[in-house]
Amino acid sequence: MKARKNILCIGAGYVGGPTMAMIASKCPECRVTVVDIDPERIAAWNSNELPIYEPGLDDLVSKCRGRNLFFSSDIADGIRNNDIIFVSVNTPTKTFGLGRGMAADLQYWEKTARQILAFSESPKIVVEKSTLPVKTALAMERILNSTKNNIRFDVVSNPEFLAEGNAIHDLESPDRVLIGSREDENGLKARQIIADIYLHWVPKERIITSGIWSSELSKLVSNAFLAQRISSINAISALCEKTEADVVEVSRAVGMDHRIGAKFLNAGVGFGGSCFRKDILNLVYLCRSQGLEEVADYWEMVVKMNDYQKERFLQTMLGAMFNTLAGKHICLWGFAFKADTGDTRESPAIYIARRLAEEKAVVHISDPQALKNARKDLADIDDIRYIEDPYRAADGCEAIAVLTDWDIYRRLDFKKIFNRMEKPAFIFDGRNILDHKLCFQIGFNVYPIGKPPLTHF
Ligand code: UDX
Ligand code: ADP
Repeated sequence: MKARKNILCIGAGYVGGPTMAMIASKCPECRVTVVDIDPERIAAWNSNELPIYEPGLDDLVSKCRGRNLFFSSDIADGIRNNDIIFVSVNTPTKTFGLGRGMAADLQYWEKTARQILAFSESPKIVVEKSTLPVKTALAMERILNSTKNNIRFDVVSNPEFLAEGNAIHDLESPDRVLIGSREDENGLKARQIIADIYLHWVPKERIITSGIWSSELSKLVSNAFLAQRISSINAISALCEKTEADVVEVSRAVGMDHRIGAKFLNAGVGFGGSCFRKDILNLVYLCRSQGLEEVADYWEMVVKMNDYQKERFLQTMLGAMFNTLAGKHICLWGFAFKADTGDTRESPAIYIARRLAEEKAVVHISDPQALKNARKDLADIDDIRYIEDPYRAADGCEAIAVLTDWDIYRRLDFKKIFNRMEKPAFIFDGRNILDHKLCFQIGFNVYPIGKPPLTHF
């Protein structure tokens, strides 16, 4: 029996892998192939040890792999044999040239567009899944239509809103699926074909459509608004620490106003992840390039506030520990940018570890999933100890800094930990997840975020 749709995804990362596994699972009559330039990644997707940690992903992949979900390194073959091509390659921030540190580096993405053009022998719908600067679809269309081979390419924007650690739930039950396209006859037809895929499991009213530019911009704006909430509450955490107010009490009171809502109001050591910083800087770059200086400055402050929060956390550690960290052993609990992922992209832990090393502290790093990435992130720093077990990691240390909100850290035997640490012993809870009173009673000097410290001095 011929499969009804042949779907390809270029880029087998945090977005492409889980999204395609969900589509394969919900659309058994579709044949879904995921390709990547990195053969090791593909080998991992075809093994029992998937390249990314995501709760629920193993089950989903093992259910569909080999049935209607395939992982392959043959990009050319993939392009030739599929009609719908999702593109979810990485688009990091540029590290060179014009727009360095702000604009998106589109080299991977443009390479993909050229590959699609080179290997296509029949019409394709090309779906932008990666977060891209607004108007990228236009550039994609221009590249694809740059030769006279008479193949029709329709470019559609279908931004991904999944949050890591919760990806399977977000994919299965999304708040919305957004599909943007040109509003001409072919664009509308392509839009409907993509909508039909999601209609297998997403209620009709949650599938929304728009023009292509609005769709691209919506992704940047969603992430900017989410990050803005975190920077707002982090700004207030600094004020709470000065005034002896408690940021958790403030955020609870504020969040109970249903117009504001309770989510994304947890103060912490700063936001990380592959999207927030990159997307806001993209937005800022876009505004500046349109001459909107004030608008650009407004959004840039969200990122600056995040940088400030990370440095403020480090300064609190330094100040509390008598203004010197040289030679002191400091344990970081958590290195991933949030719980339930091994991803460390833009993790505040990278900044904190580097600053601690600059202060000549000996850093011990513990994380249930992210040590492999941590080793890569800090490869240039000698004498960092990577110890998965949180008890052993804290052994002989003078301080623990909680940098990721992993659940396991809430339920440890703090008395045992205290007894095995140097004194005075400090806890800096960068996620406000521990029982601060209990830790204080055991003997720790406790420094939460946005609350008065509990100290024995
Ligand atoms: C985000 C968006 O949520 C998602 O919709 C988009 O598709 C990609 O970017 P993600 O980066 O996976 O997802 O994680 P998210 O849950 O948004 O958390 C981002 C960062 O903010 C983490 O470092 C997290 O610890 C931090 N955070 C989140 C806070 O500090 N406080 C909060 O209240 C919420
Ligand atoms: P995201 O979080 O957006 O999914 P990742 O970095 O996890 O980003 O995944 C992007 C994937 O895209 C990587 O596995 C990378 O190897 C792959 N990739 C980048 N460029 C190309 C390309 N031209 N062809 C195929 N795959 C690519």
